[in-house]
Amino acid sequence: MRKETSIHGQWSSKLAFVLAATGSAVGLGNIWRFPYITGENGGGAFVLVYLMCILLIGLPVMIGEILLGRRGRQSPINTMTSLSHEEGLSRAWSLIGWLGVAAAFMILSFYSVIAGWSLSYVFRTAGGVFTGLDVDGVRGVFEGLVSDPERLLAWHTVFMVMNVLVVARGVRSGLEQAVKFLMPALLGLLLVLVIYAVSIGHFAEGMRFLFAPDFGKINGEVVLMAMGQAFFTLSLGMGAIMIYGSYLSSRASIMRTSATVVSADTLVAVLAGVAIFPIVFASGLQPDEGPGLIFVTLPMAFSGMPGGVIFGTLFFILLVMAAWTSSISLMEPAVAWLVENRDMERVKASVLVGLVAWILGIGTVLSFNLWSSPIGFHLDLGGEEPVFIGGTIFSMMDYLTSNVLLPLGGLFIALFVGWRMTRRSVQDELGVGMGLLFQGWYLVLRFLAPVGILLVFLNAVNLI
Ligand code: PHE
Repeated sequence: MRKETSIHGQWSSKLAFVLAATGSAVGLGNIWRFPYITGENGGGAFVLVYLMCILLIGLPVMIGEILLGRRGRQSPINTMTSLSHEEGLSRAWSLIGWLGVAAAFMILSFYSVIAGWSLSYVFRTAGGVFTGLDVDGVRGVFEGLVSDPERLLAWHTVFMVMNVLVVARGVRSGLEQAVKFLMPALLGLLLVLVIYAVSIGHFAEGMRFLFAPDFGKINGEVVLMAMGQAFFTLSLGMGAIMIYGSYLSSRASIMRTSATVVSADTLVAVLAGVAIFPIVFASGLQPDEGPGLIFVTLPMAFSGMPGGVIFGTLFFILLVMAAWTSSISLMEPAVAWLVENRDMERVKASVLVGLVAWILGIGTVLSFNLWSSPIGFHLDLGGEEPVFIGGTIFSMMDYLTSNVLLPLGGLFIALFVGWRMTRRSVQDELGVGMGLLFQGWYLVLRFLAPVGILLVFLNAVNLI
């Protein structure tokens, strides 16, 4: 008999799962990372590759990852161990779970610091700090914040405690309720920003940057960044979506719910881009401002619009909440594993995971001030110039997780579901026959997604 539920609980309904998974997907990745990475990678062509990765790799892998979670009904590590046992395969597949946990700690560590910036911006905006400031003034406020390690550490601590509080109670209580009103509110405020962006006169320029592809700006590295962003924004490849799938009722349609989550996530990212780039150009900023991009452009917008203090404060509150519903999904796989394998109480496990990620996060706190000079070395890969491998602790963790670990996790998931599980198990879990939709997905998951990920990897290191 298959397990109908996980020991950690179950979503109250299919809608609850969609909301929770959307809560995990929609976060800083959409509103903070998408615009800044797009800005650094030249705009339109990057966005096009990103959208292709979402559709051809992200969506099919998400279906596979949820399917594994729901079939295993345990933490990703144990799910992979028991599914490989069930299918008569090597235990080594549990590596997917271990890699995921390693990636989760790294992501959580910097995610919490950036969420801390957002928290501090709630108070700055509400206090009217940005009112009447010009670009230099607004940038000064941002630089004042990130150059102060103590303040960054304090906000990072507050945010991590917020996470531990929710995860300790179990993701179900509270989370479902929160996401239900959060998503519509976030969409509403993004629309306010879009309307403002249309009204300030640089809208066309912004749209051209975002949507007119300049293929001259594409290279292996840009494609890798686009694929990494697709994995990051969909919370894929590290077990977050897998464990949320393990709390999903056996009757829900995995294909349909995945499509909903992916669409919602993409909509939020694109809207964020549409709102932000006109503001970038109208303020005389450069798109490649880096991780501070939205923390400079958004206050500019709010300081220029009527009711800006209220809209701005609300916006940053929603951003913090969106980050919150994402970061709890980063903690969940490791916490569930501690509960299952170490017999730890949920509360203790949450505190432990939060503490480890908090300590790691100090590296990111210092990356913007005391340790801001990049560390690393030059490597000759046969390109025109030797490439620099390294950066700040923040940039290395960000790069390693999004561009390497998550796609690697996704590759293994695609291989496991597409090639190692029997087709019967896969169909049984999805609850579908040999319809066209299944065949199309299966084909993409077996061939296109893994080959695509591999090609992007090889291309990025100049091997092809
Ligand atoms: N998808 C989240 C975001 O876009 C980040 C995340 C990545 C969450 C990986 C969980 C797992 O903000």
